[in-house]
Amino acid sequence: MNSLTTAERATAVSATEQFRPAFHYTAERNWLNDPNGLVYLNGTYHLFYQHNPFGPDWGNMSWGHATSPDLLQWEEQPVAIPCDEQEAIFSGSAVFDEHNTSGLGTAGNPPLVAVYTSAYTEVSPLAGRQAQSLAYSLDEGRTWAKYHGNPVLDRASAEFRDPKVFWYNGGAASYWVMVAVEAVERQVVLYKSADLKAWEYLSTFGPANATGGVWECPDLFELPVDGKPEDTRWVLIVNINPGGIAGGSAGQYFLGAFDGVTFRPDSTVTEGHQQDGSRMREYGWLDWGRDYYAAVSFSNIPDGRRIMIGWMNNWDYARETPTGDWRSAMSLPRGVSLTRVDGKVVLRQQAIDPFSPAGSPIFSLGRQPLASGIVELPTAAAVARIDVEFEPGAAKSLGLVLRAGEGECTLLSYDVSEGILRLDRRESGHAGFHGSFPSLETVAVPLTDARLRLQIYLDRCSVEVLAQGGLTTITDLVFPAEASTALAIFAEGEGAHLVALDVVGR
Ligand code: FRU
Repeated sequence: MNSLTTAERATAVSATEQFRPAFHYTAERNWLNDPNGLVYLNGTYHLFYQHNPFGPDWGNMSWGHATSPDLLQWEEQPVAIPCDEQEAIFSGSAVFDEHNTSGLGTAGNPPLVAVYTSAYTEVSPLAGRQAQSLAYSLDEGRTWAKYHGNPVLDRASAEFRDPKVFWYNGGAASYWVMVAVEAVERQVVLYKSADLKAWEYLSTFGPANATGGVWECPDLFELPVDGKPEDTRWVLIVNINPGGIAGGSAGQYFLGAFDGVTFRPDSTVTEGHQQDGSRMREYGWLDWGRDYYAAVSFSNIPDGRRIMIGWMNNWDYARETPTGDWRSAMSLPRGVSLTRVDGKVVLRQQAIDPFSPAGSPIFSLGRQPLASGIVELPTAAAVARIDVEFEPGAAKSLGLVLRAGEGECTLLSYDVSEGILRLDRRESGHAGFHGSFPSLETVAVPLTDARLRLQIYLDRCSVEVLAQGGLTTITDLVFPAEASTALAIFAEGEGAHLVALDVVGR
């Protein structure tokens, strides 16, 4: 029996709801981790995800499901693929099998096919193993049936998981490709198939670059550089936990070539297990914060757009985040592209903007000198997009104070001489629930045309920073008091200019 008084219950509910994001996906109740089976079909984006239907902690792993017409408004659907006695349903992907290569649908009604990891329980004949299995849907993702021939790929491994499947278009040699991980070996393994059921080994990549944790949730896709179809790179995504750049979980990426068999990285790749980590900052990181993990991309999105979503959390403390009976949110969806900066090809990320086109500036400042000091702005921001552009000039540092209130704030600062952007959440509010939560993220961000451009999304319990048009991102959770919504701008030393600042709400 619940012995709480009405007032106590109201307090408990508001403690739960105070951190509930306004525009990031959360399950109504219970635990959530990795995005799974991201796929677009007939006007609907499907987000499946690691979900415990029975509680706010990791366990009973099943695929939850949400749908959206625009990647912003999500509607929770019934659990798509539930765990059972024999297996937990770990991460994986989904494809639209348009030509019914699998035979799991018909020519007139081709299936959506989910490729997931069967994590077998103790009572299964395959206890202790992880292998890849199929489920299919003939009603656009509403209901799912498991394939009777599961698993379809079993290496007799205990750590073989997170299959991402895509159609490789190699002319006459076109087929399905699966990238998955041997997590503990820090290896991505590639397979091919004509029908999603019979898989043939292609190659192995890794260990390489960051190897301080298990490799999980890989992805592989091709993108044009600066939109030129004749100049492309393949992007290999490898999530790693722990051993990420800011500590704990993170995503790294490699750029290179893929010939349908082998992925070959372009440059600066350190092969083998790294012991000292001294080159960590040279590697390609999807995000320099603590809370962007298990990021993978959608399949079947028309017109070549590549959109990724990450789990906005970190295994270091995910189980302890103070949100009550729902736990964890997804990141904003991000469009990814490649661009050349100073001759080097790099990844650019742009958020699918929840404030566009409906959002309007609730506060704006135009060009003006920034005197040394701190100025509180006459606006509040807890659910907002902040666009700000600085000309640092001769100043020592500058930045924004976010989510400020009684004895707490989140500090976003730029050290001008070092060219380093920092996000400091050590005093951001409720931070003591885990020893590794208070943290300071740092990343080198060169000025562009002597300017620093930042786009910042605030959503009750998160800060996502996209710097220099999305060439660098930092994503961090924060748990401030509800009343901590003050916003301030600061400079240290003279000579800086604010070019423009807009706070966009809705
Ligand atoms: C990544 C991960 C995956 C696994 C899933 C289990 O966060 O550990 O490797 O499939 O979560 O929930």
